Amino acid sequence: MTLKSEDHIFNPDFLQQLDKITAKYEQKRAALLPVLHLVQEKEDLISPESEKNIAQYLGIPVVHVHEVVSFYHLFHQTKKGQCHFSVCQTTTCALLGGEDVIEHIQKRLGIKPGETTTDGKFSLSVVECLGACEIAPVMQQNKDYVGCLTKEKINELIEKTK
Ligand code: FES
Repeated sequence: MTLKSEDHIFNPDFLQQLDKITAKYEQKRAALLPVLHLVQEKEDLISPESEKNIAQYLGIPVVHVHEVVSFYHLFHQTKKGQCHFSVCQTTTCALLGGEDVIEHIQKRLGIKPGETTTDGKFSLSVVECLGACEIAPVMQQNKDYVGCLTKEKINELIEKTK
């Protein structure tokens, strides 16, 4: 595979890591999700340049990569803060206080959904059902699930990260 020299993470070492992932799949293109996870782990986001490189590497249209990146809230097209709150806004969570949770985080951090604090410490996203309705209202703090959210619990999480 030939990639442009400025493709910082798509160097031979990284391509070897990708090859290890794709080797587990009958069709290379089926490895899109794990490849995206690895790219995000390295870059903290999936940039348009990386979308192109991934498409070229897997032999799929770049628009397909972009659709997947923009569909799943776990993939970011912009850099997120060190602590990223993704709060569920779907029915069960909303009925059990999810809207208050979102409002409280906005007030505490002075940011709206989709924004990051100026010090780069916190980001807030609002997402659809996280599949953990039994612990509603729920959010992800980076990759971890935090359920039965209260204002006090959120305050604690914010203080721990500051
Ligand atoms: S509705 Fe919030 S996790 Fe399902």
